[in-house]
Amino acid sequence: LENGVARTPPMGWNSWNSFGCNINEALIRQTADAIVSSGMRDLGYEYVVVDDCWFNPNRDSSGNIQGDPTRFPSGMKALGDYLHARGLKFGLYQVPVDKTCAQYFGAYPGATGSRGHEVQDARQFAAWGVDFLKYDWCSPNGSIDEQVATFAKMRDALAATGRPIVYSINPNSIHAKTGPLRDWSDVSNMWRTTEDITNAWDTGQTNGYPMGIQNIINVNVPLARYVRPGGFTDPDMMEVGRGGMNDTEMRSHFAMWAVMASPLIAGNDVRSMSSATLTILTNRNLIAINQDSLALQATQVSFDGTRRVLAKPLANGDVAVALFNQGGSTTTISTTAAAIGKSGSSFTLVDAWSNSTSSSTGTISASVPAHGTVVYRVSGGGTTTPPPTTPPPTTSSAFA
Ligand code: GLA
Repeated sequence: LENGVARTPPMGWNSWNSFGCNINEALIRQTADAIVSSGMRDLGYEYVVVDDCWFNPNRDSSGNIQGDPTRFPSGMKALGDYLHARGLKFGLYQVPVDKTCAQYFGAYPGATGSRGHEVQDARQFAAWGVDFLKYDWCSPNGSIDEQVATFAKMRDALAATGRPIVYSINPNSIHAKTGPLRDWSDVSNMWRTTEDITNAWDTGQTNGYPMGIQNIINVNVPLARYVRPGGFTDPDMMEVGRGGMNDTEMRSHFAMWAVMASPLIAGNDVRSMSSATLTILTNRNLIAINQDSLALQATQVSFDGTRRVLAKPLANGDVAVALFNQGGSTTTISTTAAAIGKSGSSFTLVDAWSNSTSSSTGTISASVPAHGTVVYRVSGGGTTTPPPTTPPPTTSSAFA
């Protein structure tokens, strides 16, 4: 979406994975403080997104949407001010239709989402200082055309406020399963491509609830062609630091989100994270690859069912290559500089995790542990497939 924001994948934190509905302003403020004191903010984690359950289900007498006065006694504007004063940005969750995904409005007769209130609600968000809206289709009903029209209404209402607001949509909740099938960059800055992520490496799902990390990667990798500055596939908030994976798997999770140009939205409790978790989330090499100004999602070079190789062209002519082992035992994964779009015979490889440098005459190879991902930044030589300088055409209602 060409609305001036999200030229690279948005980075930040979201309350849902760790806290669900157990949110309040003290938690969000403490989280903001931890994002600053941990150094995460200075590496780009800026959007603090309050997910479901922040609402007062009743609109005020003028029909304005309101925050929950018990959870957020200082009000939503005060929360936005708190974040802005710390160099952070303010994100909120809302739905178009009757209930939130936590069924939040469902228990309150007459309470509604934003459909029919788009202009009024967008103005309210802007007045509170909202910089990011997550807009979630939670109805079991709704055709693709109805979804497009409904999401587009809020897009236009946000634009009309004049405030730059990242527009994050989830067309894939509750049986809709439309996300991977459509290029949503005409409507939004980022769009969910799978069912909800869970704190596990693999749940055996192909695109059903809940998705493990590897299951999501399998769905998201083929969607690379949709990604460009302003429009990103969203494989969901990260589960790094949530305890459901070993360290190798957590590093793979972060590395794959980085090369897929995915929004890097932490979902862990950053107030109490381990130094191992912080080290993963603040890997400068991977953040630089993720935030590269070309904003391309890595494309697949090869995949034999176990060993997957992805390449992501970078603005300075370097190429990031990911060697991802989806099998259960250590294996060697190899590719070549030619296969990832480099010409020449002399290359430098920087290992994103160890930061060590090696040289190569064309072979790119590593021993990769089970579920591990080695990422190299490859420089030197020329580029045989110049990265696109103009985005691919946007088709407003075409399916892939
Ligand atoms: C859906 C979304 C989640 C979260 C919950 C909140 O399941 O996919 O990311 O926002 O709703 O209820």
